Amino acid sequence: MRAAAVQSFGGQLELIDVPKPQAGKDQLLVKISAAAINPFDWKVADGILKGKAPHVFPLILGNDAAGTVEFCGEDVTGFAVGDVIFGQFLHMPLGEGPYAEYARVPASNLLMKLPDGLDIFQAAALPTAGMTALQMVENLDLPEGATILIVGATGGVGSFAVQLAVARGLKVIATARPAKATGMIKLGAIATIDHTSSPVSDQLRQLYPGGIDGLIDLMSNAAEFSALSAQVKQGGTAFTTAFVANDSELQKLSLKGGNFELAADQTLLERLVDHAVTGRVIVPVDQIISLDDVPDNIRQSRAGRSAGKTIISFD
Ligand SMILES: NC(=O)c1ccc[n+]([C@@H]2O[C@H](COP(=O)([O-])OP(=O)(O)OC[C@H]3O[C@@H](n4cnc5c(N)ncnc54)[C@H](OP(=O)(O)O)[C@@H]3O)[C@@H](O)[C@H]2O)c1
Repeated sequence: MRAAAVQSFGGQLELIDVPKPQAGKDQLLVKISAAAINPFDWKVADGILKGKAPHVFPLILGNDAAGTVEFCGEDVTGFAVGDVIFGQFLHMPLGEGPYAEYARVPASNLLMKLPDGLDIFQAAALPTAGMTALQMVENLDLPEGATILIVGATGGVGSFAVQLAVARGLKVIATARPAKATGMIKLGAIATIDHTSSPVSDQLRQLYPGGIDGLIDLMSNAAEFSALSAQVKQGGTAFTTAFVANDSELQKLSLKGGNFELAADQTLLERLVDHAVTGRVIVPVDQIISLDDVPDNIRQSRAGRSAGKTIISFD
């Protein structure tokens, strides 16, 4: 089968032919229809979990995917051959991901049967980006009408976060370069800030001198996150997904939040699916590419230049 993989940590991403995997007794073998690109995929290939988790090489990238169960191990319950499923495929050892025509996955992973109202590409786009956005928005713990800034709003997590925050009655200021500003307003943002013109923290200070109530920051470095957090009012919340928060600084500012790490579970995924199938959230599938396009697309993702979700199609 064809797959996108690296031969060593930090190695060049290659399209290779490898044997189709065989599923163990507690695993499913899935014929992949669609796999989403998340920055975490190339971070794993670069070695972010080196020494912390077992890896296999060639290391096939990927986590979020959708496809059809082709084989069920003898101990598997709850799934059957022919089921169309989606979810998070990441498991130990790392490197058996779904940037491939087939992937095996433990049935105990966070997986669901495809519900009515979601297509295969939307399903692949949902899990990591959508759950990260939903969990952060829920954990902001802010009342309706509160104003928040989302930095990195035009990307995968951000496009979900804008909509989920708006659905919760929050007023959202979204970062967006000029070409993407209208798209953010269409998703419900009340204003945009162009992160390419001058520091977002300077622009925010001018536009909202009284401060804001919350911050979801997906892209800033430590200094910029600190400058933005200082503009969140006491008792508010400031999250970063980039692990650049200084907890003692946030405490001094009387802010909740800090470094955010997704704690995924079945009920979170079910709440997200409910938002998607009822239309409260439009799943932001921006482009559908082939496996051949993956190396180029990963270069774009590394440069922080993704818009919404990019999905690899295998059909
Ligand atoms: N901690 C966790 O649990 C967790 C979970 C999920 C994701 N993450 C992390 O969160 C980050 C975002 O993930 P993602 O999937 O949303 O990424 P993504 O899809 O690649 O989106 C990045 C977006 O950020 C924008 N951007 C780039 N530089 C920016 C800047 N300086 N200021 C404002 N916006 C900027 C880009 O827009 P332009 O191209 O128009 O500039 C792009 O739309 C990644 O680092 C990812 O690894 C962490």
